[in-house]
Order: sequence, then C-alpha cells, then structure tokens
Amino acid sequence: MALVTTTEMFKKAYDGGYAVGAFNVNNMEIVQGITEAAGELNSPVILQVSKGARKYANHTYLFKLVEAAVEENPDIPIALHLDHGDSFEVCKSCIDGGFTSVMIDCSSMPFEENIKITKQVVEYAHDHGVVVEAELGTLAGIEDEVCVEAGNESYTRPEEVEEFVTKTGCDSLAIAIGTSHGAYKFKASQCTRNEKGILVPPPLRFDVLEECIRRIPGFPIVLHGSSSVPQEFVKIVNQYGGNMPDAIGIPEEELRHAAELAVCKINIDSDIRLAMTATIRQYMAENPEHFDPRQYLKPARQAVKDMVAHKIKNVLGSADKA
Ligand code: G3H
Ligand code: 13P
Ligand code: ZN
Repeated sequence: MALVTTTEMFKKAYDGGYAVGAFNVNNMEIVQGITEAAGELNSPVILQVSKGARKYANHTYLFKLVEAAVEENPDIPIALHLDHGDSFEVCKSCIDGGFTSVMIDCSSMPFEENIKITKQVVEYAHDHGVVVEAELGTLAGIEDEVCVEAGNESYTRPEEVEEFVTKTGCDSLAIAIGTSHGAYKFKASQCTRNEKGILVPPPLRFDVLEECIRRIPGFPIVLHGSSSVPQEFVKIVNQYGGNMPDAIGIPEEELRHAAELAVCKINIDSDIRLAMTATIRQYMAENPEHFDPRQYLKPARQAVKDMVAHKIKNVLGSADKA
C-alpha cells in the first residue's frame, strides 16, 4: 500500500468508535518503533512531522524514512502529516513534497483570519489530493516557538465550529478541551491528590466536545496534547539523573472515552520522548563502558514500539482496524 490520506481512516474510526494515533517522528528509530508496533497489531497509523522535526532532520530524510516504513509495512494504511503548519508556504512545501495530510494551525489568530488562511490551504491541498486539519481554540504548552502559559489557553467555542468547517472546507478539526502540549500539562495547584498522594488533573471538558459533535455530526475531531506522561517512566528518568518534577499528563481513560466519541485522531509525542529518554538514561547508567550508539538506541527503539503498542491496544482501540 502506498501512503494514504486520512479520509478512509477517519470514516472507519468514526463509525467504529476508535481513534487513529498520530505520532511525531524525528529520526529512524522513532519511525521504526511506531510502524513496527502498528504493523504487528494491524493498525492504521499517522506519522506526523513538525516544523521543528523538518529543521532537525530535513524534509527529504524524514520523507524517505517514512517511504521505507511504508515499504516494510505494506499491509497497514500509513498517512504522512504535517503537524502545526503555521503558514500557507510551509503547508504548500509539504504538499509538494509528498505529504498526504497537512495541518494549518492559525488557532491563535482572529476567527476570520483563521478561516481565510485555512481556506487558502484547503484549496491548494484538495487540488493536489491532500487533506487538511485545522484548529479552533488554543492549547496551553509549547509547540515549536509558540508557548502558551497554563491558564491562558482557551477552549474551543462550539458555536463557531459549524461556520468554520463550512467556510474553510477543512477535513478534520482540532479542538481545545483541556489537553495541552508537553510533559507538564497542569500546574500542581490545578490538580487534586488521590488517596495515594498522586496528582489528579482536572477532567477534560467533555461538555465542549459533545456540543461540538452535536453541531458537526459525522465530522472527524482531533485531540492534540494527548500524552499521558506515564509515571513509571518519569520515575526512571528521575532515578537515573533526570529532573522532571511534577510531570503530569492526560489520564488514559479520558482519551479512550474521547476515542469512542467523534475523536478520530489523537496526537502523541511527549510519551515517545519520555520512553526513549528513560530507556537511554537507564541503559547509560547500567552500562557505563558502552559507547556504540546502536547499543542504547536499540532498547530505545523497542521502548517506542512498546509505548505505541500500548496506546494502540489500550487507548486508541485501533488494533486490527487496518
Ligand atoms: O506539538 C508539538 C509536537 O510535540 C512537536 O514538537 O515542535 O518540538 O517538534 P516539536
Ligand atoms: P503531547 O505533547 O501531549 O505528546 O502532544 C503532541 C501533539 O499534540 C503534537 O501535535
Ligand atoms: Zn499538537
């Protein structure tokens, strides 16, 4: 199978009550770990590339790595997506460069401006057989150079979604319901402690999601900032010389529930970073004499694979949906 768009994936996911994982890729081990897990579990998957990833690894290297993954996993649908494109030009360059999906993220702009640029990207993308994700509402956290402080995020206004998708013609819509980017999604002051003393974040705004669904039934919704920051990995990082105090993510049960509703794409990056870093820190501490990068990148790649397999089986529900 060649690279596909997300159209068919999202239709099946919407009807089947599951979501497709969109995992950020930055190097070979990450591409391999993700696609090996998806291949073995017979799951559709979206590989997404940020502006930062293109700056780090270069478009051509990432594109060719993804092409290799498609060749190695011919039985599953794989889409290649631009994550957080911030201009028509960067979207155009990815469309021209072989991506099957792009995100135009003008969510921090005024509503009319967001519509105008999104529509321009949609016209170019659709002319080239590429689909477009857009966003309404802003998430807290850091994405590329944009940093939104927790507390300054704004939830999506459901009363805007119908006009936005109709006027822009976008194919999917990212909404803000309380998720955020990075490994520090909530301040401790926003959380409560459970009986074991573990921080529990405030719940996602399912009322906002449900109102969006009511207004655009059948339309695929996307959740960004959906890492769960598993505490066992934070513990390993901290045990082996790292320093990640109060790192906290989105509870997996909430994401599972969102996937059963109209959320068709769930974005996960930080959990992959965390799995790799925890694994490499532990490996380095336990094998101080090793210096061949293959020695520590091999378990790191396996950690990516295990993390993605866990998400597919227990969070997204996309196993055997290829
Ligand atoms: O939305 C942010 C993604 O995690 C990508 O992060 O811009 O550091 O590559 P990045
Ligand atoms: P996390 O930082 O929660 O993994 O979110 C990633 C993301 O939304 C990429 O667009
Ligand atoms: Zn994002």
